Amino acid sequence: MQIEFKSLKLQNFKSHQDLTVNFGERTVITGDNAKGKSTIPEAITWLLYGTDTLGSKLDPSPITYEADETMVSLLMDIDGTELLLGRELKKGKAKYYINEVPSKATDFNEMLGQYFNKSMFLSLFNPNYFFTLKWTEQREMILQYVSAPSNKEVFKELPEAQAKKLAELLKKHSLDDLEKIHRTNKNKLDKQYIAAQSRTKTLKEQLENNAPKVPLESLQAELSVLTKQRDEIEKVTDVAGDTNSRINIINSKIESLTIQIERGREQHAKVKNTQIEQNCYACGQELTEEAKAEALKSVDANAKAIARNVNPMIKERKALREELATLEYIDVSEQLEKARKLQEQINPIEQEINKYKHFEAMKEQLEEAQQAEKQILVSLNESIFIIDSIKDFRAKEAELQAKKVQDLFETLSINLFEELKNGEIKATFEIEMDGKGYSKLSLSESIRAGLELREVLSQQSNINVPVFVDNAESITKFKEPTGQLIMARVVAEQELKIVGDK
Ligand SMILES: Nc1ncnc2c1ncn2[C@@H]1O[C@H](COP(=O)(O)OP(=O)(O)OP(=O)(O)O)[C@@H](O)[C@H]1O
Ligand SMILES: [Mg+2]
Repeated sequence: MQIEFKSLKLQNFKSHQDLTVNFGERTVITGDNAKGKSTIPEAITWLLYGTDTLGSKLDPSPITYEADETMVSLLMDIDGTELLLGRELKKGKAKYYINEVPSKATDFNEMLGQYFNKSMFLSLFNPNYFFTLKWTEQREMILQYVSAPSNKEVFKELPEAQAKKLAELLKKHSLDDLEKIHRTNKNKLDKQYIAAQSRTKTLKEQLENNAPKVPLESLQAELSVLTKQRDEIEKVTDVAGDTNSRINIINSKIESLTIQIERGREQHAKVKNTQIEQNCYACGQELTEEAKAEALKSVDANAKAIARNVNPMIKERKALREELATLEYIDVSEQLEKARKLQEQINPIEQEINKYKHFEAMKEQLEEAQQAEKQILVSLNESIFIIDSIKDFRAKEAELQAKKVQDLFETLSINLFEELKNGEIKATFEIEMDGKGYSKLSLSESIRAGLELREVLSQQSNINVPVFVDNAESITKFKEPTGQLIMARVVAEQELKIVGDK
């Protein structure tokens, strides 16, 4: 965008009651001190923004003469189209004109905003203005036109392992988020690692304290001898136990059978001795021989039935007595005592062998703990690697961006970043000329610095605005800016003179 000033008209603006300035490609304003040179660019910034050339609010009402109203109008050419802007101040009230049409302040400002913002215009128009901004605003203004280096560009400058890791992670998260994730992770894992280390240490100590002293093979050999002896004794005592319990069973069976047999015999004798009745129990008449024979027959049958019952028992008892005669009671108390003593020897050996099992389990636990410790260390190192890579990425990114910005300047050196003691990169903004900060520069040096800076801004933003170099007598030579140049110079004993060459 190309902006040119054609003409400026001042009425009752500060010391100027009525002044018209016709600008050329180059305009030179000369005159003695206090002739109104610096007032001219102020009229322009007041018209556009109501401020002086440094952006401070300005009341231009004349104080040395009477005037009803102050009026400034500026004819500009913006990319080949003429635009006439006017601002009027009457009894403290401002009025705005766009191409002579009275307009609202908001419309006026909006229209201006289409072309440039205030700080951009002032930076381009007044070479001193940029340096009055806060460093953050200065930095932002320079960087808004210098694109940050792409991730790819930064990766090229990083060691391959870091670049590969970050490229993969940045598919999912932003760099800031990654840093948050892995810083939290690192803190968590630092603690976990300490805990894991102390666990393995404790387990190791426990293992050392519980290491079995007698070799397992000798324990097992001793155990097998003893158990063999014990088992042999038990074989004998088991058989003896079977025989002895059979004898007990037979004895108690014989005892119970004898009781039942005796009882049967008694009943049998009783039945046999029964006397047959001779007379009928009802009528008292003697019974017939037939009837008596009948009664005798029934007694006989009873006796036979009892005998039938008792005889098998006698047979069974006889068989049991015969079996009993073949069995012999075995006394195994001695063997049992031996087995008990063997068992007493076996028990501590088995306990010692169990210690081995416990020891093995503890060993497994230790191995697991060592594995866990190793895994924590792996992810801890991963997070540390990522955090370091992010740090290096930022440093490289800053370096590349700083180089991009620096390449725009010829004599100025621009500092965009500073490295903190911990290696972190922090944004900053410093401009130096020949190793000197702006505040240390002489008047001419500061004008030159300002011109170089506004030239870069103008080129980068592609906005070409006239520049006003005030106090140009103090500078013997400077590089001509692209676009319109307006200069004011003190010339002793001379009235205000404005020459705009065509
Ligand atoms: N509101 C005002 N009304 C009238 N005169 C004013 C007003 N404000 C400032 N002046 C005067 O206007 C005159 C011109 O000032 P200006 O700063 O434009 O001069 P200059 O030519 O730039 O001088 P120098 O060479 O000293 O820089 C000065 O005498 C100043 O005191
Ligand atoms: Mg001046």
